[in-house]
Amino acid sequence: MKKVILFSLLIAITANVCAQNTLNIVPRPQVVEMKSGNFLFDKKVSVQFLQSDLNALADYMINQLSDRFGIKISKDKKSSKNIILSVDKKMSTLGNEGYTLQVGAEEVKITANNPRGIFYGIQSFLQTIPYEGKKEIPCLLIQDKPQFAWRGMMLDVSRHFFTVKQVKEFLDILATYKMNVFHWHLTDNQGWRLEIKKYPKLTSVGAWRMEKPGAVFFQKDSTLKEKEKRYGGFYTQKEAREIVAYAKDRNITVIPEIDIPGHSEAALAAYPQFSCRQQPQIVTNAYGSPPGASDNYCPANDSTFTFLENILTEVMDIFPSKYIHIGGDEVDKTEWKNDPKCQALIKEKNLKDEEGLQSYFIHRIAEFLEHHGKTIIGWDETLQGGLAPNAVVQSWRGIKGGITAAQLHHDVIMSPSNPLYFNRYQGDPKTEPLAAKWSINTLQKVFEYNPIPIELNSADGKYILGAEGAIWTEFFKTNDYLQYMLLPRLLALSEITWSGSENKSWQDFLKKMPYQFKLFEKEKWSYDSKDLEYEVKK
Ligand code: ACM
Repeated sequence: MKKVILFSLLIAITANVCAQNTLNIVPRPQVVEMKSGNFLFDKKVSVQFLQSDLNALADYMINQLSDRFGIKISKDKKSSKNIILSVDKKMSTLGNEGYTLQVGAEEVKITANNPRGIFYGIQSFLQTIPYEGKKEIPCLLIQDKPQFAWRGMMLDVSRHFFTVKQVKEFLDILATYKMNVFHWHLTDNQGWRLEIKKYPKLTSVGAWRMEKPGAVFFQKDSTLKEKEKRYGGFYTQKEAREIVAYAKDRNITVIPEIDIPGHSEAALAAYPQFSCRQQPQIVTNAYGSPPGASDNYCPANDSTFTFLENILTEVMDIFPSKYIHIGGDEVDKTEWKNDPKCQALIKEKNLKDEEGLQSYFIHRIAEFLEHHGKTIIGWDETLQGGLAPNAVVQSWRGIKGGITAAQLHHDVIMSPSNPLYFNRYQGDPKTEPLAAKWSINTLQKVFEYNPIPIELNSADGKYILGAEGAIWTEFFKTNDYLQYMLLPRLLALSEITWSGSENKSWQDFLKKMPYQFKLFEKEKWSYDSKDLEYEVKK
């Protein structure tokens, strides 16, 4: 008996070592056992799916095999060599997103509790196939599930607009690496990007700005020459729904962000009556706020709430997510300080100050959304003056806000700008294209980050839902540039959120990069490998 245990232990250890050395899967699966033998893709291979709702996933896999590797296989044809997709409720220990991938010499089997797990099993399976040489993969057994339920990436489409096709490609990249949340930053000072039928000026006015040469986001733009240029764009509701459906097919939930009460100059350029001063203003055409802009919604005006509730009603109709992100960050409260109506409201509601007024504002919006079955997410400034009940906090100014919120038993998404803002440099600023300079967020820094702060005890640590990276697009107006900032750092984020911090190895992660770069090249995703091991000198 002892001998058997010892033998199994040895197998397990060897299997693990073998896995580390031979598999290129990102994110790293939890348990891998290498077996003897290989599965060879030959003419006999067919895909079988045991439940009819797996049909679309079978098609997805067939297309990926063809696009990535030129492998052509048939579907649901009786064969002696099959790839079998099967939902099996007995796999409950693997949770909602886990899967088992068994590769034998004559059969590949992907099993999960539900189609979401099958999708992830397919992603892992695809990453076992070599790009060069024989299309042969080692026999193995993988049992895998994510460490965190929230594996997110935020994209700002206000500072620069990205087309539906480009957003879909962004989602393809997220899905490949098992990310499951797309946080869509749809509104900001520099542009309102979502059609709202009740308020057409939000897009006819708010989606467009005049860009001045040299004044745009610190960036000298030679293409602008001396002429001002109208810049902008927006998504129709039909297009936004199309994105939601595309994401859903890839296990990704889209969380819309409608930023309030600040970062709202584009909306207030269209409807200045909802600002305190009610003066005409422009959609911001530079980084920050133009002089004289009034960048907040006015809480002392009840019609502001009607306006926002009408907008949010349309937003809820488009986005079925449980969560709506309401921003809440960087609210300059000067106008509220100067406005007699706001000051009277502070007195009337017995609020402490303008921070209390912000909290009052967000509580009202949260109550409205809760009434419609939604939960709000706000940046960590929403802690000021008191959180709304059930509000989720997204911690970006470091991890402090996240720690405080978790200790108050609020759910938390960790997005400390250092290292999870991917609009910041990933390598040497001397050789990198222009990026945000506040920190250098190298691939290794992202990889080493653990979303659970050591300051939290294990009970409070459970409030950390996961982590999210963010790309603010002041500096990035092309899709190539955007992908360049995303890759390969997204892969490190996917490892910290899916694989977790136990047993992680930077060296093993680096070894997987050449294989992943082949995929980027195949897909024509823009990246550069030169900064892979760039270290920030202290
Ligand atoms: C933020 O970066 N202002 C959330």
